[in-house]
Amino acid sequence: MDEPQTLILKVNGQEYKLRPDSRTTVLDALREQIGLTGTKKGCDHGQCGACTVHLEGERVLSCLLLVEGLAGREITTIEGIADPAGELHPMQQAFIDHDAFQCGYCTPGQIMSAIACVKEGHAGSRMEIQEFMSGNLCRCAAYPNIIEAIEAVRAAVLDPANSIQ
Ligand code: FES
Ligand code: FES
Repeated sequence: MDEPQTLILKVNGQEYKLRPDSRTTVLDALREQIGLTGTKKGCDHGQCGACTVHLEGERVLSCLLLVEGLAGREITTIEGIADPAGELHPMQQAFIDHDAFQCGYCTPGQIMSAIACVKEGHAGSRMEIQEFMSGNLCRCAAYPNIIEAIEAVRAAVLDPANSIQ
């Protein structure tokens, strides 16, 4: 078998030098090599959404994404969305304000997916939110409150004074 090659992965604006083998997923690299455990492993098979991160602003399932080939690409995780001064991202705050979680295991993935859902323009109605958040499962069934949180952020974003990153 070929020796693993060194690769620089950019996560939340920082560069990490890794030696992934050809099967290392972004999820395992984040949690086990980089030490960012905010991104959760649920099914590890692309079916629950718990591992959702952003790859250059697009939501992706990190359990299905191999590190190999991602040199120089920018990944953002739940640890990277708050303001550097410590102010929560509007979606994080909305999840708190609307009580949009119980155990919290699915929450990082829900929030990363919700941010993308609003930015994609797929949060125009409750039904649309349901459809475009359907890849993120919540075993605690916090769905109504998750939708309320997303609607609140969408409404705030429609105010020209606001935007989300
Ligand atoms: S852990 Fe990736 S989709 Fe479930
Ligand atoms: S809050 Fe428990 S799985 Fe969603």
